[in-house]
Amino acid sequence: MLTSIKTGRLLHDAMAETSRLINLAIDDMLPDEEGDDGKLIRSMRYGCLGGGKRLRPLLVLQTSALFGVAQSCALRVAAAIEFIHCYSLIHDDLPAMDDSDLRRGRPTVHKEFDEATAILAGDALLTMGFEVLAEPATHEDPNIRCQLVAALASAAGAAGMVGGQMLDLMGENKTLDSAGIARLQRLKTGELISFSCEAGAILGKAPPPQRHALKAYAHDLGLAFQMADDILDATGSEDDTGKSVGQDAAAGKSTFVSILGLDQAREQAAMLARQAADHLEIFGGRADTLRELAQYVVERRG
Ligand code: IPE
Ligand code: IPE
Ligand code: MG
Ligand code: MG
Ligand code: MG
Repeated sequence: MLTSIKTGRLLHDAMAETSRLINLAIDDMLPDEEGDDGKLIRSMRYGCLGGGKRLRPLLVLQTSALFGVAQSCALRVAAAIEFIHCYSLIHDDLPAMDDSDLRRGRPTVHKEFDEATAILAGDALLTMGFEVLAEPATHEDPNIRCQLVAALASAAGAAGMVGGQMLDLMGENKTLDSAGIARLQRLKTGELISFSCEAGAILGKAPPPQRHALKAYAHDLGLAFQMADDILDATGSEDDTGKSVGQDAAAGKSTFVSILGLDQAREQAAMLARQAADHLEIFGGRADTLRELAQYVVERRG
């Protein structure tokens, strides 16, 4: 039986609080702009402060809270994921990839600085993400820290986000079928979203049934999220999304919008969002914010 959950105050407040906390944490973790490497640090700060919905940090904080994890630990993992996510956006926008000029309502990093700096800013953020996870403050148990490092490496690398980005670029020259597009989306976007949910379970040493429930939720949420992103690329405005739009069709990318059309893609995304929320039954009302998030990802305008 599918539930119908409306985006509400719970999610609104959680998003605002997550943004506040993650901005403070990132600001604190990144070095100051003084010194010889000032340009590099400035570009790193530019790429990950000042904007973004912070959905992955929200997932880490919310799933961690289900298992009573200390917020200071969860926040470090949330920052690590956001570093990796921001690196992926900086590189995704480069001329050799999507060649985008606008991100989070501002010029992209290579436009504001230059291409070489954007590549290096991304490299440094990627590395920093793993450094943060490995530090003792992330969790007292080194075994847990190792599990986090291994799981994030797998989600971000060739079997995850980077592999998906490769499929995305290859999809510009050939038409993928729906299974091919689902795989591409699961890798390029879904795996990092899955890790964001899994992180709470790892930190909280969660029992298998709860882990499985979060995994199933994240799987459907990730697909719904990327479908909505593709719909917004086709129908949204630069003002609402804060990023360049109309790029997927112009580059001939294979997306669910290109093979299903807008109406069916919208229906499919809404169905996945409802299905995602249904996987959370085991958590009862404590997962209401995560339920609202599933609805939000497909209804958002930016
Ligand atoms: C954009 O992600 C890139 C994709 C994986 C589709 P978000 O829509 O989460 O971007 P920000 O972090 O809010 O800017
Ligand atoms: C990028 O997907 C996903 C990443 C791994 C960064 P898109 O290329 O669709 O993301 P946007 O639309 O530029 O944010
Ligand atoms: Mg792209
Ligand atoms: Mg892009
Ligand atoms: Mg997109």
